Amino acid sequence: MTKESDLSEVPVRPKDELAKFLTRETHRIHLIGVAGSGMSGIAGLLIQLGHTVSGSDKLESQETKRLERLGLKFFQQHRAENAVDADLVIYSSAIKAENPILKMAREAGKPAVRRAEALAAIMSAKHGILIVGMHGKTTTSAMTAHVLREGGLHPSHYVGAEIPILGTNSHWDHQGEYFVAEGDESDGTIALYHPEHTLVLNIEEEHLDFYPDLAAIEKVFRQLLGQTSGKIFYCADEPNATRICGSSGRVICYGFSDESDYRAVEIDLRNFESRFCVYAGKAKLGEVTLSVPGEHNVRNALGVIALASELGVPFEKIVTALTKFRHARRRFEIKYDSPRFLLVDDYGHHPTEIKATLKTARSVGRKRVLTMFQPHRYSRTKAFRKEFGQAFDEADRVVITDIYGSSESPIPGVTGQMIADEIAAHGHRGVSYQPRLDWVHRDIGNMLDSGDLVLSLGAGNIHEQLSILAADLVIAENLKEIVGQDGDVRLYEPLAKHTTLRVGGPAQFWVQPRNEQTFAELIRFCRRENLPLFVIGRGSNLLVRDGGLRGVVVHPSGGDFNRIDIRGHEITAGAGVKLKEIAYAARSADLSGLEWMEGIPGAVGGGLRMNAGAMGSQTFENVISIRYLDLEGNPHDRKRDELEVHYRHFPLLESNFAVSATFRGTPSNREQIEARLNESQEKRRTTQPIAKSAGCIFKNPGSCPAGKLVDELGLKNSAVGKARVSEIHGNFIVNDGGATATEMLQLIDRIKKEAKAKRGIELETEVQIVGESEAGQAGPNRTGI
Ligand code: EPU
Repeated sequence: MTKESDLSEVPVRPKDELAKFLTRETHRIHLIGVAGSGMSGIAGLLIQLGHTVSGSDKLESQETKRLERLGLKFFQQHRAENAVDADLVIYSSAIKAENPILKMAREAGKPAVRRAEALAAIMSAKHGILIVGMHGKTTTSAMTAHVLREGGLHPSHYVGAEIPILGTNSHWDHQGEYFVAEGDESDGTIALYHPEHTLVLNIEEEHLDFYPDLAAIEKVFRQLLGQTSGKIFYCADEPNATRICGSSGRVICYGFSDESDYRAVEIDLRNFESRFCVYAGKAKLGEVTLSVPGEHNVRNALGVIALASELGVPFEKIVTALTKFRHARRRFEIKYDSPRFLLVDDYGHHPTEIKATLKTARSVGRKRVLTMFQPHRYSRTKAFRKEFGQAFDEADRVVITDIYGSSESPIPGVTGQMIADEIAAHGHRGVSYQPRLDWVHRDIGNMLDSGDLVLSLGAGNIHEQLSILAADLVIAENLKEIVGQDGDVRLYEPLAKHTTLRVGGPAQFWVQPRNEQTFAELIRFCRRENLPLFVIGRGSNLLVRDGGLRGVVVHPSGGDFNRIDIRGHEITAGAGVKLKEIAYAARSADLSGLEWMEGIPGAVGGGLRMNAGAMGSQTFENVISIRYLDLEGNPHDRKRDELEVHYRHFPLLESNFAVSATFRGTPSNREQIEARLNESQEKRRTTQPIAKSAGCIFKNPGSCPAGKLVDELGLKNSAVGKARVSEIHGNFIVNDGGATATEMLQLIDRIKKEAKAKRGIELETEVQIVGESEAGQAGPNRTGI
């Protein structure tokens, strides 16, 4: 952070002179770090005040784009030559002393001031109202500006975030007398203001990277109070605010207690609004309906009511304005709302804010509250580690990711894991740590169950994870509508749970239809929405890469897909029926010829798709007809002689989807069938591993069985990580527990290279390899959506 001492040589204009320079004259002014939420507000004010404004930032933002349309000359680089003509330079606290523009200004003797100095000077041209406190100042300053505006006072304003109801984060109104601003206490600059009125929301330990302790914070606040010429409003429910403000003269306090000058009673918090009754002393002013949730906002509104009333705004106007007021962005901002799910984003990053926000989330009345939290700043995370540990009691599940450093450098040992451990040590059972920010939405998404409220918390970029989840949830809900009550839809389902090899990243959308009609609708939906569609049966011949599968992964199982009908010598089975079950169904009907299926771990769909085989037989030797859906979702029935089939390959199902197949058996006696089943079992037991595998990895090349070849190459038991060639059968790679797809693929590659180099044989994989390459896999437990 920029220390004041670094910049001591930069000449600063006396306050009144700066106020005149900024509000009664027009100049060329350059802002360093103009994309920040605070700096862009100043740029907006200066443009409205008639200055020629330029600004530089390493990032372009929505705000800089908006301001460019109003006249800002924006540079996406800090270059001294872009500010040489400026009469004044204003810089953000995030700007370091070695910034080229700041250096140039210093060397050229050009005046340079901090953001808060400029703001304090602009404010001094009007009757200033400063809103301060550790929590809630953006909401409250926006609420104040809105209420005064509705009350006809034409206030100017400056708040630290985009406020939809105010239009912009700052506004200069030439007509009005008041200027409402949010004061930032984080760097001590609130001591620069000389407002007419000050509203103190709360005071507690925060920003311990700047302040040594609470006493230092108190000192700065006391200075501000001493510089306030009019009234001081403070929340009487806040002990520090009461202690620090209570002793000043001209104070007006508000809160829930009887001693407050303005107080709220009969508080009724419901879904997204609060109702309460306001008293000023003994006089009942009336009822208020507030459209932003949470008890803390009732207090914030009371502060605004006290202030606006003292400025003469009629109570009825205040009430109408408060009911209309909507939140600042990232303050309990609803990102997605359906009868089944509610996704909310909040900027909360201090333990007190987190507790208040979780309390609000809980009061909304959904079944569970799932939270993703990104700690903000190493210094804060370190200072409040214990308090963070106790802040999540109201959340059912918490996923903690790593710290958003802002402008800070890491502090060794201070990590998101540390906070997750504190929460667990405090006794929370639903906390987990996800070091990869870009996977947080997956962890939470995979836990989702109907009735959940999901909350993203933090001042960094965690809200982007919630936005991704919200976008995917829109599709997931459409899919759910298609499959209905019986079907199942899950987000980010780990495919390692659905493949016999037990590796593979998540499926973006995992869908289980129960009948042909919904399967067909899913196909049409994916086509319309341009979503990739992939079908997984038993996942027995599948190697999914660690990045998982994008799009919709359909798992036809249950319902019609698990039906077996036996008619005479024919067995019709749905795509989800295990081949093994067909072998046993055939036995019960005294039909022979299907015993080999006992040894195949897959289901009908997969068996058809790859013309699976064992014991010298293969699927299509028994098939008499199949039913499938085409790319438009239309059903077709085809007889065996209409189908082109190869060794381990059935082209038709590369772009169509199996629904069912009819197999023919030969009448035989039970003992013979039993004997053949036993022979198959015995062969499997003695020649194949029982460990987790995908069956044979390679197709048998013409010259020599692949297993024999691998064996002869001496590769049995060779391993990459937890992926190992079985010592029992050379064509099986087994998962020794926790293997990754990357390890599997490396081992496959090694075998292929050896076979080519030593025997001149090109091995071809029999196992189907799909998905995106990326290390790792999706989150822990899941429930259905
Ligand atoms: N062999 C070795 N060393 C080994 C493995 C095999 O010398 O490590 C020898 C065997 O002794 C035998 C020959 O290689 O002489 C063939 O082995 P096996 O009889 O086990 O048959 P396979 O061709 O390796 C095929 C199917 C299996 C099926 C079995 C049993 C393929 C690629 N594999 O294996 O199917 O279970 O027959 O019928 O066609 C699968 O496709 O996933 C699968 C497991």
